Amino acid sequence: MATVANSGLEGVVAAETGISLVDGQAGQLLYGGYEIGDLAAHGSYDRVVGLLLDGEWPPSDEVLPAAPLSETVLTALRGLPTSCAPLDALRTAVSAFGAERRMGWPPTPQQARELIALGPAAVGAFARMRDGLEPVDAAGGAQLGVAGRLLYSISGEQPDEAKARALDAYFTVCAEHGLNASTFTARVITSTQSDLASAVCGAVGALKGRLHGGAPSEVRDQLTQIGDVDHAEAWIRDALARGERLMGFGHRIYKTMDPRAAALRSVAERLAADAEWLQLAIDVEDVALRLLAEHKPDRPLKTNVEYYASIVLDGVGLMTDLYTPAFAVARTAGWTAHALEQAEHGRLIRPDSRYVGPPQRPLPAGV
Ligand code: ACO
Repeated sequence: MATVANSGLEGVVAAETGISLVDGQAGQLLYGGYEIGDLAAHGSYDRVVGLLLDGEWPPSDEVLPAAPLSETVLTALRGLPTSCAPLDALRTAVSAFGAERRMGWPPTPQQARELIALGPAAVGAFARMRDGLEPVDAAGGAQLGVAGRLLYSISGEQPDEAKARALDAYFTVCAEHGLNASTFTARVITSTQSDLASAVCGAVGALKGRLHGGAPSEVRDQLTQIGDVDHAEAWIRDALARGERLMGFGHRIYKTMDPRAAALRSVAERLAADAEWLQLAIDVEDVALRLLAEHKPDRPLKTNVEYYASIVLDGVGLMTDLYTPAFAVARTAGWTAHALEQAEHGRLIRPDSRYVGPPQRPLPAGV
């Protein structure tokens, strides 16, 4: 069968964007010209939302307005099995919200803000419902930023300041990342003049896979299985010999350390939730990088964002199945910013495929 050398579309420029610069060779990520490490250390997610949607750093540090979940969204969430993946619950909530809100064409920054604000409330409501608890009153979290509101919506309590700050930095780091698979999905959906809620639904689906947003809980499993740095070398050698991938390493674009991993390592160090767990991660990372270089000498496989994301999310007290939903809530900013840009400047995205099936032939006898 003929193969298409670039079937993963690497190297193909499919959009022009002014939202972020992802430089894989230099290991650099800029949102609107601002460096990701500076944004994580000194910015806030709610302001980054303004930067991504409007193109300029917002003059005031107002938080995104919160809104209570509508009866339509709550009914949709209550109709789900409590055993379902919380990311599926988020996708369902976005779908129900979109059906009720009837977002028209073209998408607007206001619609984007509504979808970003929906995320923490929907994830928190589902996390509580599956434990037999009622969703929290949205008014109680109105003064918090989007990240703090996620913690409040889950626990029903005002979040610890250091944890809210750490999660806010994580949200900042995960808000946007160029034309990754889920953002491309959002742009493809928007390119058909579909609505913004549909674009976010599709993007959540694309994020779900373990090669994209599904990795951080697996990083945690990996570290749990290794348990002690003395076991790391044998464990990693075995995994690589079985043809497995080390979660939290490798990236399609970055050929050096993912700058988000460096920013999140600093966040994890500042949070210092579990010093032993962090030290294990740091020590295992060293062993993994050495063995990956041996395993694939011609392909740089470096630490990616998911590695220290797992430490931060664990440190702020999120259950592992809420890691990817937290990522999705944060990334809704990037998805919607790209959808707005696509709607303004883009055309219908419709690539070609090369046919490699059978030549024209008659139907089988008797049909
Ligand atoms: N561990 C071991 N080997 C790896 C790893 C890894 N983490 N990543 C890539 N490789 C190997 C592959 O097995 C492959 O080897 P082969 O040529 O012998 O088959 C080679 O490197 C190239 O791999 P591809 O999948 O073609 O590279 P791609 O650029 O498509 O992969 C990806 C990027 C999916 C992130 C990959 O590195 C991976 O699977 N990493 C582990 C999962 C992970 O951490 N995902 C989170 C990514 S960050 C994000 O999306 C937010």
